[in-house]
Amino acid sequence: MNTCYLTLWFVLALVLPLSSSAAAYPTKHIPALYVFGDSLVDCGNNNHLPSGGPSFLPYGIDFMHGKPTGRATNGKTVADFLAIHLGLPLTPPYLGLSNHQRNRVSTGINYASAGSGVLPDTNNDTSLTLDKQIKFFHRTITHNLPKMFTENEELEKHISESLFFVSTGVNDYFHNGTFRGNKSFAFFLLSEITLRVKTMYGLGARKFILNNIPPAGCFPSKAIHTRPIGKCDEKINKAITFYNKKLREVLHELQSNLPGFTFIHADLYGFLKKMRKIGSYYGIVETWKPCCPNTIYGDLKCQPSSVPCPNRNTHLFFDQYHPSEIANKEYAWLCFNEKIICKHWGLKLF
Ligand SMILES: *[C@@H]1O[C@H](CO)[C@@H](O)[C@H](O)[C@H]1NC(C)=O
Ligand SMILES: *[C@@H]1O[C@H](CO)[C@@H](O)[C@H](O)[C@H]1NC(C)=O
Ligand SMILES: *[C@@H]1O[C@H](CO)[C@@H](O)[C@H](O)[C@H]1NC(C)=O
Repeated sequence: MNTCYLTLWFVLALVLPLSSSAAAYPTKHIPALYVFGDSLVDCGNNNHLPSGGPSFLPYGIDFMHGKPTGRATNGKTVADFLAIHLGLPLTPPYLGLSNHQRNRVSTGINYASAGSGVLPDTNNDTSLTLDKQIKFFHRTITHNLPKMFTENEELEKHISESLFFVSTGVNDYFHNGTFRGNKSFAFFLLSEITLRVKTMYGLGARKFILNNIPPAGCFPSKAIHTRPIGKCDEKINKAITFYNKKLREVLHELQSNLPGFTFIHADLYGFLKKMRKIGSYYGIVETWKPCCPNTIYGDLKCQPSSVPCPNRNTHLFFDQYHPSEIANKEYAWLCFNEKIICKHWGLKLF
């Protein structure tokens, strides 16, 4: 497999400069993608926890061979589309790799865990907290990567050139089912995410891409309770908007305080709100009901026995919390190609 990729890269290196498709590749080569966060980007880590992940159909129904992987959607996640954009293999879940396999992966690993948040007490009984995810990454640096980068300098260069994708925060807002939306909580959460980004920086990370928090008030789980039904709960969205505004400031502050720190700010919130308005332009005509189950009468939970909508590409949400693959795909397209969802600050990937 590794030889296969090497050969492929060799061939691409020869062919690309001559072909017009070279422009489709990022201007700077990114050697690896490391992913942290929650169910928006988990690709199977929770399958290896006692609580389990969404490892049953119809999750994964549109993923490569139509198999569930633990991704909380019908196909690929935003992290998958990001890897594809970078010309990298999809990141494997850390917990799904044997130590032997971990010693041989130098193109990135996914540590994300559905249910997790920024705070150590958010769903820590059923998911890998962000602290734990960073601990596992630390283990990758100390135990696995040195098997491939024998010189310390080489290893540091690899980490500093790699991309760190962080997508988290929404689960912290819901504590034991209740929404915590005041400003002091937002400031607390911002200081906690800052600490974790600094820890990653301390481990050598320099290139970050951060999602802001999605408009949870528009999730089907919330929109079903509003009147008229399907409207977003703007009280929830307002609190999240406050956090999101400050997040951008926090990232700029980090950049001025930490030498070499670069980032892309990805506006997941703005994207989902925009899709609710103009999704039909992209064929996404159902912008609030989930695809799975394909009814809003009864339990909104997507279960093994649930019948999904026949055409997943017409739905913004796959289940009551998660975007469908088509939404993830449009997100990546608007981020990397149209350049409207994502703004880069010192980190040019497109
Ligand atoms: C897990 O969360 C609970 C509260 O939900 C907290 O009491 C406990 O200290 C947390 N454990 C860790 C390891 O952070
Ligand atoms: C969580 O919510 C349930 C029911 O809503 C309640 O009985 C329980 O005491 C709550 N737990 C905590 C730690 O707040
Ligand atoms: C804000 O929310 C947090 C978490 O829910 C709570 O502990 C705190 O008391 C609240 N503060 C104010 C000023 O309402």
